[in-house]
Amino acid sequence: MPPTEPEKKKSFYATMIVLTVVLLVVLLTCVPYLVTIASAEGPAERSAADASPIFGVTIPQGYKQWELVAPAEEAAPLDELRAVVGNQTAIDAYQAGTLPFPDGTILVKRAWKRKQSPEFASATIPGAATTVQVMVKDSKKYAATGGWGFGRFINGRPVDEAQHRTCFACHEARARSRDYVFTRLAP
Ligand code: HEC
Repeated sequence: MPPTEPEKKKSFYATMIVLTVVLLVVLLTCVPYLVTIASAEGPAERSAADASPIFGVTIPQGYKQWELVAPAEEAAPLDELRAVVGNQTAIDAYQAGTLPFPDGTILVKRAWKRKQSPEFASATIPGAATTVQVMVKDSKKYAATGGWGFGRFINGRPVDEAQHRTCFACHEARARSRDYVFTRLAP
């Protein structure tokens, strides 16, 4: 016997209720998950494990696209090629000759093992990346270290606290008159 009109209506409502409940469950399960993903990708929301000891400095997002301040070379035993790059605040300060650097300045020193070019014997090219070193200017937060926060990273992870204790001492001893920054804008 075919269902009568009221029976059809009833089963339609039942289906709608089930669908609504399913939709609600899916939404309630997914939304917190999506929010977690979105916030984890924001630069300010990195986990504590990614931040340097003492200073809480992290590798800034997009630094591989930043402008070059100057290249450098380090003799043996490190035998490295380096490039110091800066965010827009850093580059503007360099170009204007502003010292001290303003808050918000970030300088990153990239470093690679020296490698002979496979195509041209006398040419040296970057080999494996070794360290990423970061200096962040925040004159209030880092007042005890000349306004600079330091971070040294290997394979994306910060090195230990002992190494972070050496940063300011060397920069202070030798580059104090230049706001603790060694690198000059390459001509
Ligand atoms: C023994 C001295 C010494 C120590 C210790 C040291 N640095 Fe440096 N740093 C330098 C020199 C010299 C330069 C100039 C660039 C080069 O030659 O590699 C430099 C450059 C830099 C730069 C680029 C900006 C600038 O000042 O030129 C950053 C960023 C940096 N260091 C971060 C660090 C961090 C982070 C630490 C600690 C983990 C650290 N440095 C420890 C000597 C030192």
